[in-house]
Amino acid sequence: MKRNSDKNLHQIFCYHSSSLQPPRWRWRWRWRSSHNKPSFKTFAFFLFFFLFFLFTLFIRLGWINAEIIYWRWRGEGVEKSRSNREGSWKATCPAHFRWIHEDLGPWRETGITREMVEGARKTAHFRVVIVDGRVYVEKYRGSIQTRDVFTMWGILQLVRWYPGKLPDLELMFDCDDRPVVRSNDFLDPKSSPPPLFRYCSDEFSLDIVFPDWSFWGWGEINIKPWRMVLKDIKEGNKRTKWKDRVPFAYWKGNPHVDPSRRDLLKCNLTQQHDWDTLLYVQDWDKESKEGYKQSNLEDQCTHRYKIYIEGWAWSVSEKYIMACDSMTMYMKPRFFDFFIRGMLPLQHFWPINDQSKCPSLKFGVQWGNNNTNQAEAIGEEGSKYLHENLKMELVYDYMFHLLNEYSKLLKFRPSVPPGAVELNPETMTGAAVGLHKKFMEDSLEKSPSDTEPCDLPPHDPKVLSEFREKKLNALKQVEIWEKEYWENQRKGN
Ligand SMILES: *[C@@H]1O[C@H](CO)[C@@H](O)[C@H](O)[C@H]1NC(C)=O
Ligand SMILES: *[C@@H]1O[C@H](CO)[C@@H](O)[C@H](O)[C@H]1NC(C)=O
Repeated sequence: MKRNSDKNLHQIFCYHSSSLQPPRWRWRWRWRSSHNKPSFKTFAFFLFFFLFFLFTLFIRLGWINAEIIYWRWRGEGVEKSRSNREGSWKATCPAHFRWIHEDLGPWRETGITREMVEGARKTAHFRVVIVDGRVYVEKYRGSIQTRDVFTMWGILQLVRWYPGKLPDLELMFDCDDRPVVRSNDFLDPKSSPPPLFRYCSDEFSLDIVFPDWSFWGWGEINIKPWRMVLKDIKEGNKRTKWKDRVPFAYWKGNPHVDPSRRDLLKCNLTQQHDWDTLLYVQDWDKESKEGYKQSNLEDQCTHRYKIYIEGWAWSVSEKYIMACDSMTMYMKPRFFDFFIRGMLPLQHFWPINDQSKCPSLKFGVQWGNNNTNQAEAIGEEGSKYLHENLKMELVYDYMFHLLNEYSKLLKFRPSVPPGAVELNPETMTGAAVGLHKKFMEDSLEKSPSDTEPCDLPPHDPKVLSEFREKKLNALKQVEIWEKEYWENQRKGN
């Protein structure tokens, strides 16, 4: 696969080196003048020419970056030249992309054999095969709602977004909530863990995380494709300035999916207790009958603090909560999806202790109301991370790099199994009805990306461990503040 970036680079270099080469007639002139007494002029010319020669040589050897010089010469910053000319091809991918290497780590030494892929079939809902830029699936069983269909749709859109760029591959996808490939079962370096793609994982599992279906819309509960939601929330954010928002921690959701959520509801404002929270139960049946008027995501950016809490696994609500410009109260999670690993406590969100939810929430709210500028900034940073680093273009880039790196590990030649069907937009939209059909039409990539994928940083365990340390320190910091606060409260009483 020839990458366009290489070609562009080559063109830039050729352009520069040829323009720097003195035309041929000068050689003749130099030849003739060398018969005469060497004058200062000749000497200066030789020096000049020699320097030019060195310059072009260095550019060719890559010791001088011709692009930077060119843009400096044009009087423009390098950063600007990057964003203007080539879009994102020179831009480095956001922080969460680094975990792609981590997720594929178990196979870095061994590669991925066909047997390993077949090993993942046990729980998979379908197999994806990409051969010659076409996408095929072999379906094994139905998923919850339309998760499977919208995940397939997403992969098809990726191929439309980057036509001809995706390598041949075969992978297994499991649409259920919780990770299933326990790392403890594969401690022996000779064991071969099955590579299994799903929407989230945890620190005890080897499942490979991939963007969830909702990026292309979640028809069952009327959540539009992410590209549109981001725009709506951006508008919604303008409606109420942070300092004018309700100074409580807000949550609305389904408490029945996990005991931890039922536990959260105990913190709601009552006559006896005020934990500075406002919690509501989302009744999807009622909402659907009333046309989802109460569940518009852009109307939910009216509180200074918004609580994120996992459900049975990670929760799709995370990105909608965090895009709100409110400070996210992030309940200590067990699972992670593909983008949260690039975010930090105290920078992008406020961490909440899941073992003492109510006091922890109350302290967070009070801290925020005492330090409004900082709390507003944390809310803004978190929201900015989503609006900039999780925009649809970069969701595709994540998928692209993950699949690209994955395919490099394959030790067999991918082939289309007899039972597989080719995905194509017409048959898929043709088979869908109602909102599902609408969301497919809305999220169809109508033209290929006009920029290259961002640059994936190489595997660097040092950067990741520094990041982990930063995260732990921030968590510890808040824990200490919280403890001190509640100890002082007890002493005061
Ligand atoms: C939480 O408290 C608010 C305000 O008192 C109330 O409107 C809401 O229904 C309560 N939520 C639950 C789940 O009880
Ligand atoms: C917020 O400020 C009040 C008044 O100064 C103080 O009593 C309280 O302890 C502060 N709370 C936090 C969490 O900083």
